[in-house]
Amino acid sequence: MQNNVLILDFGSQYTQLIARRVRELNIYCEIHPYNNIPENLSDFKATILSGSPFSVRAEDAPHPDLSGIKGKMPVLGVCYGAQYMAHFNGGNVSPSNTREYGRANLSFIKENESFFNDIHIGSQVWMSHSDTIKQLPEGGVKLASTADVENAAYKIEGEETYAIQFHPEVYHSTDGKKLLENFLVGIAKVKQDWTPDNFVEMTVESLKEKVGDGKVVLGLSGGVDSTVAAVLLNKAIGKNLYCIFVNNGLLRKNEFENVLDQYEGMGLNVKGVDATARFLDALDGIEDPEEKRKAIGRVFIEVFDDEAHLVQDVDWLGQGTIYPDVIESISVKGPSATIKSHHNVGGLPDFMKLKVVEPLNMLFKDEVRRVGASLGIDPELLGRHPFPGPGLAIRILGDITAEKVRILQEVDDIFISGLKTWGLYDKVWQAGAILLPVNSVGVMGDERTYEKCVALRAVESTDGMTADWVNLPYEFLQKTSNDIINKVKGVNRVVYDISSKPPATIEWE
Ligand code: XMP
Repeated sequence: MQNNVLILDFGSQYTQLIARRVRELNIYCEIHPYNNIPENLSDFKATILSGSPFSVRAEDAPHPDLSGIKGKMPVLGVCYGAQYMAHFNGGNVSPSNTREYGRANLSFIKENESFFNDIHIGSQVWMSHSDTIKQLPEGGVKLASTADVENAAYKIEGEETYAIQFHPEVYHSTDGKKLLENFLVGIAKVKQDWTPDNFVEMTVESLKEKVGDGKVVLGLSGGVDSTVAAVLLNKAIGKNLYCIFVNNGLLRKNEFENVLDQYEGMGLNVKGVDATARFLDALDGIEDPEEKRKAIGRVFIEVFDDEAHLVQDVDWLGQGTIYPDVIESISVKGPSATIKSHHNVGGLPDFMKLKVVEPLNMLFKDEVRRVGASLGIDPELLGRHPFPGPGLAIRILGDITAEKVRILQEVDDIFISGLKTWGLYDKVWQAGAILLPVNSVGVMGDERTYEKCVALRAVESTDGMTADWVNLPYEFLQKTSNDIINKVKGVNRVVYDISSKPPATIEWE
């Protein structure tokens, strides 16, 4: 790929953020672990060295050979990256005497340096390090300082090598994106041609080349990732893509039929498989959440394997894997993590032995949505709340029966349609109802009732890692509660979950 930027990961918690900022500049980039530098570097127009939790002085710290990179193409060292290039090229990196964590402001910027174009003295930067660069490496020229950090930025004379002690990728470095632009566009001359339309065009071409006349099976879930992956593959290979959409009986009310219709409307070659009975049988009597997850995972694999066998001569398994899943699975500690999963290939179902094609494995979630929009996928589908793979099974606390699923589907439907009617759906990151294993006393007419209690949960979040409950209007909660109790037989009490994550999780199981 042309105009590709290499980000070498030394294990910083911010590495993914660097990639996001670069992509925001419409520049394509890839993260590779420091101990697995790509052999063919000619594809890369520039390299960024990330930060790291290590001290460069530690023996077990990442010390890769950069001879193919430094001095050969534009390089930007960030934090550890800056220290690493100083430490091994005649500079001095030592523990810092002053606090170098958090906000700081640039107090000196060398004049007429294109690296600092449009960035001025006083600009706020974010520091996070305990070592400091006491002496610059050979050929080093100081470019910027803060009150506490003398060598906050430097370049190496005669090379296109730049280094900064602070983190341009974090929000608190107010000119961070500008700095990345100055380096990538101004100095490294990388073109800003990474757009969703471009991605679609390039990916369809490369899928055609990769898959050729081969057949691909792909499991659709109704979620954004698998849908976008399927539409891309469909554009590339058409009817040779065989999509399988399994109804595990734990989806939202009418979801299976509606989504299947939508998929067919998009021209996908899709087969809906209603395996409700198989899943409910497997779940019979199971109360433990992890056991439920395992049972559902196992049956899904069985059903998918059966269906995949019905397609003759399949070569590929299509997956909607996205970039964060990939990065998490390649640990910077070494490639061992990826080797492990191939150990017991013999015991895997046949479809898992297929070659894998993952057209989205270089995209972040918001990029997947933008690519989906560029492919013309219905915005409603792209804006769907996340929904867990085990579905309502982990929202029915305790054991699962068909009747409990029916009750929860009705309750959930009233809640979710209400959010849409009231214009609240898009303000919420994820919402759903939970059926509690609790009966409580109520009164309806002159009759005493002893029926189920349901909880409603609506959270705001950006990634599901942390979340807070949403302050839904009382009038909405009042109307929703009334509707649920009046319309859903078997429920006489509704509560609203006001717990944040942490310490509570989003799902109750
Ligand atoms: P928690 O409950 O851990 O959920 O706060 C965070 C996000 O993950 C989803 N989730 C799951 N997704 N299989 C999935 O595919 C699961 O077993 C599962 N458990 C939780 C949850 O819906 C939320 O978006």
